[in-house]
Amino acid sequence: MTLIYLFIFSIFLFFVSFFWKTIKRILRFRKFDNKIPGPPTSPILGNVQTFRNKSTVELNQIFLDAAEKCRNSKSNYMKYRILDKLFVLPLNGKSAAKILESSSELNKGDDYDFFEPWLGGGILVGRGEEKWRTHRKLLTPSFHFAKLEGYLEVFNTESRILVSCLDELSDSSNPIDIFPYIKRCALDIICAAVMGTKVDAQLYHNHPYVNAVEMFSVLVIENAINPIFQIPPLFWLLGYQKQKEECIKVMKEFSTSVISERKAALDSGEIEKETKKHKVYKELVKVFGGDEDVTYEKMSELEYTERVLKESKRLVAPVPMVQRKIISDMEIDGITIPSGANISISPMLIHKNPEVFPNPAIFDPDRFLPDEISKRNAFDYIPFSAGLRNCVGQKFAQINEKVMIAHILRNFRLEPCGVTKPALEV
Ligand code: HEM
Repeated sequence: MTLIYLFIFSIFLFFVSFFWKTIKRILRFRKFDNKIPGPPTSPILGNVQTFRNKSTVELNQIFLDAAEKCRNSKSNYMKYRILDKLFVLPLNGKSAAKILESSSELNKGDDYDFFEPWLGGGILVGRGEEKWRTHRKLLTPSFHFAKLEGYLEVFNTESRILVSCLDELSDSSNPIDIFPYIKRCALDIICAAVMGTKVDAQLYHNHPYVNAVEMFSVLVIENAINPIFQIPPLFWLLGYQKQKEECIKVMKEFSTSVISERKAALDSGEIEKETKKHKVYKELVKVFGGDEDVTYEKMSELEYTERVLKESKRLVAPVPMVQRKIISDMEIDGITIPSGANISISPMLIHKNPEVFPNPAIFDPDRFLPDEISKRNAFDYIPFSAGLRNCVGQKFAQINEKVMIAHILRNFRLEPCGVTKPALEV
């Protein structure tokens, strides 16, 4: 009996201390409810109701509409609050530069904590500056110009598989959502290029790793807008913890097995260590640099394709929002944002600023002609973020995109079908 009382008492203590801290933080951030514009907030919950039960598409629209209203009221920022978490969003490149150019405000925001059990405190989500610098230094040589050229073979091989998969479907009279195919191709490319492992997700659908990442992404969005995710006992009782752990288990088991296979191959001499590899790399480029495949030289001639790819990432930013949790108070438009608040930089919103990109909903690759680019602030177009914590894989991704698109478009004519349904696994 005493044990039961003790258990109930500790739960009670947990809730009192949890809510006490939460209420203190809510009171601290509530002053900003009126100082910076944003979707209407309720005193305690903030914007929980604004985002409740909304799909990703609806959420994006809520942000875009709110940003438009804030711009119309001449604000360069907007804010929203989920319970005790304050998020401030710069609405143009100049305002975003304030945080992105900072060499001290490098800490990722609160929402990244959710990734920690999966990705650890490493380069993408890690907070400690020293650790991040070490990881960034270790990773940067993998994206050196000479290395990138060596990945071309993988990009070409996997893109050819993608084309053969799409080929099987191209005679169908029904519209086909090609996103799941692109996604699996991207996974095969990243595993083959970065880890030297053939995953063949393109050939064997329902790859458990892809499914786990997909499920985890759904939880990430929920975590950002649903306060229940911030209350550990409820998160656990409602089964979210179990779902999260299952995803992480699959994802970790996969990466651990890839690393062990790679290590074993290195130890057995099956693959050579980095220092001995250059000759092999040159030979590979020489042997595989046929006409069919995309080469570096050909790639630099793809000026229009490049503009199309850039404009696509402007219109639909692949990473709609990144966050920094500020460690020192920050002055914004005469208002002091306190340490502990999050600054959310949203490429999705910044790329739709009509003062910089007139008629922002219109697809116009010529926005990326050199003369047009020179008129803009460098931070007005940031699909890969910017500053010290920009995307280390940017060049890799851009080359990857070009090779895939060169293969797809030489084999198929894609047409908009007017049907937008969620990208389900096919
Ligand atoms: C179209 C494809 C891609 C886009 C749009 C993209 C976008 C981004 C963005 C916006 C960030 C900043 C995240 C933040 O501040 O929280 C980022 C960071 C990062 N990206 Fe990418 N990325 C892409 C592909 C890749 C690829 C292919 C790799 C690796 C092979 C990669 C590796 C990373 C890493 C390691 C970071 C963390 C860098 C740091 O914090 O120092 N990305 N990416």
